[in-house]
Amino acid sequence: MSDAPRDTQLLEKVINLAKRRGFIYPSAEIYGGFRSTYDYGPLGVLMLRNVKNAWWRSMVQLRDDVVGIDAAILSPPAIWAASGHLETFTDPLVDCKNCHGRWREDKIDGQCPTCGSRDFTESRAFNLMFKTQAGPVADEGATAYLRPETAQGMFTNFANVLTTSRKKPPFGIAQVGKSFRNEITPQNFVFRTREFEQMEMEYFVAPDEDEQWYRYWIDQRLDWYLTLGIPREQLRLHEHAPEDLSHYSKGTTDLEFLFPWGFDELEGIANRGNYDLTAHSNASGTKLEYFDQVANERYTPHVIEPAAGATRAMMAFLLSAYHEDEVDGDVRSVLRLHWRLAPHQVAVLPLSKKPELETVSREVLGLLQPHFMTDYDVTQSIGKRYRRQDEVGTPYCVTVDFDTLTDRAVTLRDRDTTEQTRVAIDELAGEIWRRTSQL
Ligand code: GAP
Repeated sequence: MSDAPRDTQLLEKVINLAKRRGFIYPSAEIYGGFRSTYDYGPLGVLMLRNVKNAWWRSMVQLRDDVVGIDAAILSPPAIWAASGHLETFTDPLVDCKNCHGRWREDKIDGQCPTCGSRDFTESRAFNLMFKTQAGPVADEGATAYLRPETAQGMFTNFANVLTTSRKKPPFGIAQVGKSFRNEITPQNFVFRTREFEQMEMEYFVAPDEDEQWYRYWIDQRLDWYLTLGIPREQLRLHEHAPEDLSHYSKGTTDLEFLFPWGFDELEGIANRGNYDLTAHSNASGTKLEYFDQVANERYTPHVIEPAAGATRAMMAFLLSAYHEDEVDGDVRSVLRLHWRLAPHQVAVLPLSKKPELETVSREVLGLLQPHFMTDYDVTQSIGKRYRRQDEVGTPYCVTVDFDTLTDRAVTLRDRDTTEQTRVAIDELAGEIWRRTSQL
């Protein structure tokens, strides 16, 4: 398996496309930008939402053993003291003595990436949490943190969810939302940013079943990326050596994607043991246990955690979907996104701006909108409009032409094969459903 990027320009091409077509913009651009923060534009917000929905569908909707929550981002220090983050959620920080650049020691191979010097200060532990103040009085009791992971919201709500949902192990709590880390060197577009979105699930199991569920979730998560179109050779599993494990972990496997700079983490699947529930039980005084009535025994469940980044996954899907191929003698760039992830599933394209075509095109649009995110585009030649839709990954284009006025049929064009089929307007939504359900 090659570790080499497919195309040395790939990252740049995808960043340019993302900006030019309204997926992802550098944040605060009119003020010169704000380092490593990004805003999601009209197509980006659709795609990011699709990534999160696809995750939720697979992790919650299609199962009866996982429920969701949406916990607060602002949180008291007590949570982070108990979880171990106040003490250990740090990266090793060094300053270059020559140019005063600040670096994460474990990422630079002993040499300053700016000036090449090897002369650094002693490494010190830099805590990655964003600290803030809740309320108008800046005393000790006002300290709050922006969560650096969504996971703790699932642990602190364990007893609430257990009693209100009537679930019993094995069962999971899922959450999608923003997390914040004061990364020393955010880098590589949205791969590592200070504000990002996570999709995490804590799966609570009996203590003697943790290994089996750990393996199960590694397989499930790998399958999710494959089903959504990332080829197997662009994914790999990397099991951490015991000495590299996080403070809470009994075992961690990274699911890695072949980014343009090589394989790197997309998601971590961890066996957290009973570390978190025990720590919060001890610190809060609230018992976070499960009473198994059949066995007549009480235990602290162990936790398997698949933890993914939504924004990082979106970047991987964009990189993997980007292709250049030849159609009718022209090179086109095309995003071969899975239809569930594409910002628009369908585009309606009237062949001309003539009012009679516009009327029937709007009728077609109205028939599709309740079922699909649908774009509508009347400007420029039909060939240019196909290219524009290919470039942003729209799987189906519907062309309304003058024959439509008499035969009540339209041309349905497939993004990947560029094949065109005549379909009756009344059967159009059903035909698109039929095609997508096979993918
Ligand atoms: N609760 C466990 C946890 O948070 P993690 O490996 O630190 O584990 C999980 O984070 C995932 O969140 C990562 O695999 C990555 O996809 C995403 N992630 C973490 N830090 C990130 C950052 N600074 N920018 C973008 N995504 C990040």
